[in-house]
Amino acid sequence: MRKLEGRLVIATHNAGKLWEMRDLLAPHGLDAVSAGDLGLAEPEETGETFHANAELKALAAAQAAGLPALADDSGLCVEGLGGAPGIYSARWAEVAPGGPRDFAAAMEKLETALTEIGATPPFAAHFVSVMTLAWPDGTVESFEGKVFGTLVFPPRGMLGFGYDPIFLPEGLTRTFGEMMAAEKQAIPADGSPALSHRARAFQAFARAYL
Ligand code: IMP
Repeated sequence: MRKLEGRLVIATHNAGKLWEMRDLLAPHGLDAVSAGDLGLAEPEETGETFHANAELKALAAAQAAGLPALADDSGLCVEGLGGAPGIYSARWAEVAPGGPRDFAAAMEKLETALTEIGATPPFAAHFVSVMTLAWPDGTVESFEGKVFGTLVFPPRGMLGFGYDPIFLPEGLTRTFGEMMAAEKQAIPADGSPALSHRARAFQAFARAYL
């Protein structure tokens, strides 16, 4: 397998993800540049799975930049809602289609949806991240990470991004919104699984390419 060296595009326009992916890549000595910094357009997420969307984002960036590109497609899946919002997690937060995102409203919408179906706590949920590495020649490889937990209402904590304030990882007492990035994203030195879905997907990617 080709090892990664030199320049790598982080194929995201999401500030929260970019921050986390930069942190994860930092110890590996790559020259990571974001899709935004390169002025790349954000492709439309037309896929119906996390894998399909991660691949299309990574490929679009790799081919436009002529560099290897790493994309993440991720989302929150609520078991009681049949896995929603899932691949639509970002779109659930749009105030109007394609418009700005309001995650406080999206978290309220989730609580309302659970109330409407008569669900009672604990509200089982998991985050998924699929990370895809694409090369300019069209080769792609994907890695998946998941973290299971429950949803808490009202949201707790101002750290993190997106749905972090309502997600309580299994066995822990603080939501992702109450954790410092270093805790949510930590990669254990002994090779045991990381906590967050994105860090878990990254561990698999790093074992293959770094
Ligand atoms: P997409 O992968 O660009 O479709 O966006 C995924 C969406 O899922 C993000 O905009 C967030 O709303 C949500 N999401 C993914 N990962 C996380 C996370 O680590 N914390 C909180 N929300 C997340």
